[in-house]
Amino acid sequence: MGEKYPFTLTPLPYSYNALEPNIGSETVRIHHDKHFKKYVDNLNEILSQYPQYQSWSLEKIILSIDSLPDNIKTGVKNNAGGVYNHRLYFDIMREPKEDNDPSGSLRDAIIRSFDSLGNFYKVFKESAMKVFGSGYAWLIVDKNKELKIVTTPNQDVPTNVFHILLIDVWEHAYYLDYQNRRDEYVTNWNSIIDWDKAEKNYEVAINYLNNPKA
Ligand SMILES: [Fe+2]
Repeated sequence: MGEKYPFTLTPLPYSYNALEPNIGSETVRIHHDKHFKKYVDNLNEILSQYPQYQSWSLEKIILSIDSLPDNIKTGVKNNAGGVYNHRLYFDIMREPKEDNDPSGSLRDAIIRSFDSLGNFYKVFKESAMKVFGSGYAWLIVDKNKELKIVTTPNQDVPTNVFHILLIDVWEHAYYLDYQNRRDEYVTNWNSIIDWDKAEKNYEVAINYLNNPKA
């Protein structure tokens, strides 16, 4: 948060093989070191020509796309989104666990919003499967403190909401391990969600909404 140009590739918070067998080490290595890095490099390359935006945080850039010059709008949107989304994606995973379910306030909120954990996983998977082509399925909190599942195409980022977690359903996230079987990838992804971090994201959102800063 608050980081400015030049943006850096966030290190993986675990080893390349930490997510096996759910996601193989080669997938993690290529996804993080090549795909994610490319978004960082591309964003820095564009901004290198525009010193007036080099003091902006990643969040400010994403929220201010419409105010950028037309010739860099699409490039900045795709690459800033690519950096933001991959940071959250790699951060929200951990080594596989049996019965990997949320606990605490986030668990209660999920059950309130989706009736049961089982139904949440079902709706989340259906949403991830419906993403046409490349994109993400997200769990977010809206301004009314409601948990919702949303999807975005490409590297778009949902704005004016709080991000709890997201799954990358670009083929580069799963093709080496699952080929065309996105459903299997999404099912196995449930076991590597870092629910402790997701719960922290949820608590930050709720605390902010309960005590909005002037
Ligand atoms: Fe990705």
